[in-house]
Amino acid sequence: MKLAVVEGDGIGKEVIPAAIEVLDSLGLDVEKIPVELGYGKWERTGSAITDEDIDTLKECDCVFFGAVTTPPDPNYKSVLLTIRKELDMYANIRPIRPLPSVKGIHERNDFNFIIVRENTEGLYSGIEEIGTDISTTKRVVTRKGSKRIADYACKLAKSRMNKLTIVHKSNVMKSDKLFLDVSRQSAIDTGVLHRDELVDSFAYNLITSPWNYDVIVTTNLFGDILSDMSGALVGGLGLLPSANIGEKYAFFEPVHGSAPDIAGNNRANPVAAILSLKMLLEWHGDLAEAAIVEEAIDVALNMGICTPDLGGKHTTSEVGNTIAKYIRTKME
Ligand code: NAD
Ligand code: IPM
Ligand code: MN
Repeated sequence: MKLAVVEGDGIGKEVIPAAIEVLDSLGLDVEKIPVELGYGKWERTGSAITDEDIDTLKECDCVFFGAVTTPPDPNYKSVLLTIRKELDMYANIRPIRPLPSVKGIHERNDFNFIIVRENTEGLYSGIEEIGTDISTTKRVVTRKGSKRIADYACKLAKSRMNKLTIVHKSNVMKSDKLFLDVSRQSAIDTGVLHRDELVDSFAYNLITSPWNYDVIVTTNLFGDILSDMSGALVGGLGLLPSANIGEKYAFFEPVHGSAPDIAGNNRANPVAAILSLKMLLEWHGDLAEAAIVEEAIDVALNMGICTPDLGGKHTTSEVGNTIAKYIRTKME
């Protein structure tokens, strides 16, 4: 496999090396292509991502990505949004599954749902008019964009509990009526049991009763917010992995950002990045390796080897190292 590796900014530079140590411990035939992207590169060179960088990403089988810093500067073009659009990765898959040894806000750990977030349109259209007295962002919902994400979610639901929840706000935004209608039709056509919920009450229902959900499909910004919120269910943002998938390209990254408040201290939790690596291995068909990675994470956390966000006193590298060491011993 030819793998583009982007550390990015902040804790991306810490969690990706820890995850790469885990990848190396598996002994797979992987050619790693380092690609520098992000705010640091922008400060150094004046551009956060170039056309050549995009070509490099496209030439690889898939991308493993840490996190980048995005300043709220109107002249700065978000690296992540550029990549998602350029590689047309329309599905952002965010599984929320508790690890056996970590508790979130509930005593119960018997839930396992996936947020399927539309990743190319909605309020992330990039169509904006910024003025002094009025600024607008155009929310774009298309039939094509809604159908491909709904079809993806239905296919996923069929491989799981066959339960789909369509999350929207069509009572206020008529653009969501299109998303809702197309999603419902996709569920009917594919024989998936479905219901829909308005995003505000859904947020309450999800955080109080996560065990009621299986696959959730929603528009771009709602999916962004609901996935970070769901971090509270599993023990924190340092535990949530994701995959960005399109027809041609795939890209794996933790849900969290560059965490400037803790960056540079070797204390970021690398588990979200390592679980993203696990998703990458599954996508590539390396199922046995993916299972060992998951087992090794459990073993490390059960031994109390974890970073301060989980109440531990270990460093990012120590957690990565423990997981890699367990895998090396197991593979001998
Ligand atoms: P964030 O996810 O970076 O951090 C939110 C909080 O969670 C912080 O307190 C942070 O310390 C903590 N946290 C996050 N990941 C952690 C980890 N692995 N271990 C321990 N604690 C962790 O979100 P933010 O602070 O809102 O954003 C910071 C920057 O990151 C912004 O520039 C934002 O645009 C960017 N961002 C990038 C991505 C990405 O590249 N995928 C995603 C989200 C945010
Ligand atoms: C995420 C991030 C990104 C998003 C930002 C950094 C552009 O928050 O991947 O969840 O909003 O999609
Ligand atoms: Mn986000």
